[in-house]
Amino acid sequence: TMTDQEMIQEINQLRREKKAVILAHNYQVPEIQDIADVVGDSLKLSQEAAKTNADIIVLSGVHFMAESVKILSPDRKVLLPVYDAGCPMADMIDVEKLRKFKEENPNVPVVCYVNSSAEVKAESDICCTSSNALKVVKSVHSDKVLFIPDKNLGDYIDRQLPEKQVISWQGFCITHHRVKTTEIDAVRQQHPEASILVHPECAPEIVEKADFIGSTSEIIKYATESDGKTFVIGTEMGVLHKLRKNNPHKKFYLLSPALVCFNMKKTTLRDIYLALLNEEKEILVEEEVRLRALNSLKRMLEIS
Ligand code: 13P
Ligand code: SF4
Repeated sequence: TMTDQEMIQEINQLRREKKAVILAHNYQVPEIQDIADVVGDSLKLSQEAAKTNADIIVLSGVHFMAESVKILSPDRKVLLPVYDAGCPMADMIDVEKLRKFKEENPNVPVVCYVNSSAEVKAESDICCTSSNALKVVKSVHSDKVLFIPDKNLGDYIDRQLPEKQVISWQGFCITHHRVKTTEIDAVRQQHPEASILVHPECAPEIVEKADFIGSTSEIIKYATESDGKTFVIGTEMGVLHKLRKNNPHKKFYLLSPALVCFNMKKTTLRDIYLALLNEEKEILVEEEVRLRALNSLKRMLEIS
């Protein structure tokens, strides 16, 4: 068996030879974040995918992220090192359910959180991520919007934009939804000096009690630029790596021990090495679906 160091050497050689880039989400394990060409939130990963000139893109994250990369960069070979790294929230809606939701609410535009399949994006009007959701919904020329699939992000947008009526699909992130009010109340008592930074995928009663709400990269940026010394982090534990690396003198606590996304933790250095070596675990999107999904993603990127 190879050591991590040998694996990293092989990965570096393969990515040079094959003109490959490794894009990793902020929730990936530290050793992957350390070797990735880009580490970011969902928006950053899409923006990078849209502009890269690499021949191969390895997406270290979950399935919908690799699909978005393929939709935006159809001429590249897109690899997802672990095929069954999925997102349970994305699986809470499908095209059939979405069509029914649209029939029940005729002529209401659909805003689709990127945590969704290519087919669902194709059936929507515009995409958003957690970092541009407010901007995207504001930009839609309608008082009413359907928001899929995250009820928590949908509710957050609805409360932030009183001029819009947001009708949400009842999906949720099984990781962020686990955080309990008793946990945020306890941490306030234990660390009254700390700022509590929370992802909008958390339930409304958690978001309501937080000091800052944002995407993974927005949380990292906020804590890095802040004069504060202590932070409680209400998103998946993967962000702690960059937070601690960027801010060795600040203290970070996780809001709940339940903030671990098991799908985001499936990928190892070895999976990345094997994907690059064998050029396997390729992600493909049917062209007709891709073109329609591309419209929704492009509209989002234009206003981001
Ligand atoms: P962001 O990195 O865009 O905040 O996404 C969070 C998430 O849960 C991705 O699955
Ligand atoms: Fe899906 Fe939540 Fe995991 Fe993100 S953290 S991939 S939304 S289950």
